[in-house]
Amino acid sequence: MSPDDSWGRVCSRGLYSCHWKHASTPKRKRALCWFWVVGVVSLLSLCWMYVCLATFNDRDDVNWEGFANLKRWVNWFMVLIIMSAVLTSYCVLLLLFALVQVALGEPLNLHWLHQATAPFLQLGAVAALTLLSVFVFQGFHVAEETWSKFLIAVIFVTLSAAIFLCPLYIQSPCLIETSKLPEKPKLFGHRGAPMLAPENTMMSFNRSIACGVTAFETDVQLSKDRVPFLMHDNNPGFLRRTTNVKEKFPNKEFSHSSNLTWEELQSLNAGEWFLKTDPYSSVSNLSEEEVETAGNQSIPSLLQLLQLAGQHNISVLFDLYSSNQENDTVDTVNTILSSGIEPSLVLWLPPTKREYVNKTAPGFTQIYDNERDMVNESGGHLNVKYSKFSSEEIRGLRSRNVWVNLWVVNEGWLFSLLWCAGASSVTTNSCHLFKEMDQPNWVMI
Ligand SMILES: *[C@@H]1O[C@H](CO)[C@@H](O)[C@H](O)[C@H]1NC(C)=O
Ligand SMILES: *[C@@H]1O[C@H](CO)[C@@H](O)[C@H](O)[C@H]1NC(C)=O
Ligand SMILES: *[C@@H]1O[C@H](CO)[C@@H](O)[C@H](O)[C@H]1NC(C)=O
Repeated sequence: MSPDDSWGRVCSRGLYSCHWKHASTPKRKRALCWFWVVGVVSLLSLCWMYVCLATFNDRDDVNWEGFANLKRWVNWFMVLIIMSAVLTSYCVLLLLFALVQVALGEPLNLHWLHQATAPFLQLGAVAALTLLSVFVFQGFHVAEETWSKFLIAVIFVTLSAAIFLCPLYIQSPCLIETSKLPEKPKLFGHRGAPMLAPENTMMSFNRSIACGVTAFETDVQLSKDRVPFLMHDNNPGFLRRTTNVKEKFPNKEFSHSSNLTWEELQSLNAGEWFLKTDPYSSVSNLSEEEVETAGNQSIPSLLQLLQLAGQHNISVLFDLYSSNQENDTVDTVNTILSSGIEPSLVLWLPPTKREYVNKTAPGFTQIYDNERDMVNESGGHLNVKYSKFSSEEIRGLRSRNVWVNLWVVNEGWLFSLLWCAGASSVTTNSCHLFKEMDQPNWVMI
């Protein structure tokens, strides 16, 4: 363990920026400005909290003012206090982690979520400043000594300048002109459309076609008789989560894909679990017919998926779970070549036998899970977790014509940020929601 990776450092880094690994190129200037913004907002919100608490005694007056002006009786004061408390806690926590980062000599890079809230944080700071200015002017008039007037004025002007100028440095990918907005990222269905149908079933992939996905993302394993089939879980709990294996084979413990033949696998129901456990609380939105279809799904073979993909001109991207990469790769490649799918639609991800695959099936599109391998092998396609790159890094890669797919992106705000940053595509559970978006949730300027 290097001194850069002691548990304390990793924890602090992870909490603040969600980058558990040491960042090699800290962007100091922006990071410092960030630190500034967080510091100033924390300070302001603490002051504001203080004002709120100091006027707690007069809360009825505040509520009454609110009622008189807005003609609605709401506990305005409580609303104010709660909103202030949330803002204050958020900022102070961020600040604390930032201080720990500084103490540990770590770079200050904010996580995507904080990047999303940044513009709103700044607006919040402006609002707080405006509210505070009332008290500042009172203080200014009450102050007797010239020097204290001067001090109040200097502090106030500095803070205001800092807050109003910092957007110049604020890094939020959606602070761009609408005309510079990149093309909307393509959608890859993560195991199909797992919120609308049981994952990795033909129903799931069919439903993802309706969301306009350009690729199916899935997981491949090989049965005892060497048939590649689609199943994510590959640990000792294999098959238990998504099939009725316990009912069908009550006295057997399967731990590996090679424990069952393709015929045995096909005898399992791979959809009832979805209706029973309702993993995304989405079953109530299904029609009667859809519920019936969902309850009647079986495990698909890779060949079935490739045929569907070929018919609809949709790409296929998969992880290969296997303890025998060598043989399993050979059989998987043979299955693909025999399916007749256009080879460029196959996005080949498993790294272990890439050289063999390249020789046997030169038409496949090679996808890399890290930039170094991609550059070494003159590739042009990356598939990484969304938090791996900052928005600048994504922009940099895109400007070098690298295709960047990010997994797994399910929330609209995150999709919006990655859209602004220029991601080529995202792997998602929410294709039905993202399909409806014709612009990011917000674009500023
Ligand atoms: C399942 O496969 C594993 C690994 O090949 C093997 O060790 C185990 O005995 C098999 N179990 C059954 C029930 O066939
Ligand atoms: C689906 O329904 C058909 C008949 O309607 C039945 O033969 C088949 O076994 C069912 N499949 C599953 C996985 O339940
Ligand atoms: C398949 O889709 C690609 C883009 O994803 C397009 O360039 C190509 O023309 C399509 N092929 C057919 C046969 O529709």
